[in-house]
Amino acid sequence: MLNVNKAIFPVAGLGTRFLPATKASPKEMLPVVDKPLIQYAVEEAMAAGITEMIFVTGRSKRAIEDHFDKSYEIESELETRGKQKLLELVRSIKPSHVHCAYVRQPEALGLGHAVLCAEKLIGDQPFAVMLADDLLDGKRPVLAQMVDVFDHYHSSVIGVEQVPREDTRSYGIVDGKEWEDSIIKMSNIVEKPAPDVAPSNLGVVGRYVLKPRIFKHLRALKPGAGGELQLTDAIQALLADEQVLAYRYDGQRYDCGSKIGYLKATVEFALRHPEVASDFQHYLAERMETH
Ligand code: G1P
Repeated sequence: MLNVNKAIFPVAGLGTRFLPATKASPKEMLPVVDKPLIQYAVEEAMAAGITEMIFVTGRSKRAIEDHFDKSYEIESELETRGKQKLLELVRSIKPSHVHCAYVRQPEALGLGHAVLCAEKLIGDQPFAVMLADDLLDGKRPVLAQMVDVFDHYHSSVIGVEQVPREDTRSYGIVDGKEWEDSIIKMSNIVEKPAPDVAPSNLGVVGRYVLKPRIFKHLRALKPGAGGELQLTDAIQALLADEQVLAYRYDGQRYDCGSKIGYLKATVEFALRHPEVASDFQHYLAERMETH
């Protein structure tokens, strides 16, 4: 059985919901307190034992490459000024055993197409797909939980959570039988169904551990919901070949693709940030009293 040591980060999206902030810089570089969203996702991948990070990029995404690259200017400046702690912080963004690769998605044809763009870099082994918009906060990092499930059952694993029925149009929705605690044997998956036809209210969050057979189905994709090549549709086709599991992860999700989710994440992460937690808590308490 092969280890999961590669992750795909589709980062070619335009991030129109955060304009004007995302006009010239990627939405994945939006910081929650002091760390960009993409770094949270990469740290979650590293915590799951992943060492090969594959970014599927588009236009205006250079900042992501620069972020994970060595910055000689910053490092030598911090060294000269004796700022050892900051130097370590900057160097820890990409430890030396971790490698980054970049592949371009020439056209925004959908998530399924983005994953397919990385096929050659994955080869014949299982891999993770991580959407950095979904900031997942778990005592045990969520992707590590999913890799545990994968190692145990040797099946593809899709991260899910209960979503409000009226919101099914925003998610891939899965159907299946609860097999063991938090593990659902999937029978169906459908992209963004209307609430009245959604098979359940279990929504897909942006975490997938997939077996390489998915590529066969990605190559055969036809436009689906929204006219895009949907990863969800390839998973539905994979179900005809082999078992796929949905996993109700243990943790909290912040939908940082939406302004409100992003603001909630900022408040939560600020309230536990060693540098600002206490001041921020006082500020919030005062603010609540006066409004
Ligand atoms: C994508 C997937 C969808 C999933 C969602 C999770 O949709 O297509 O199945 O539920 O991510 O964030 P998007 O939000 O990119 O439209």
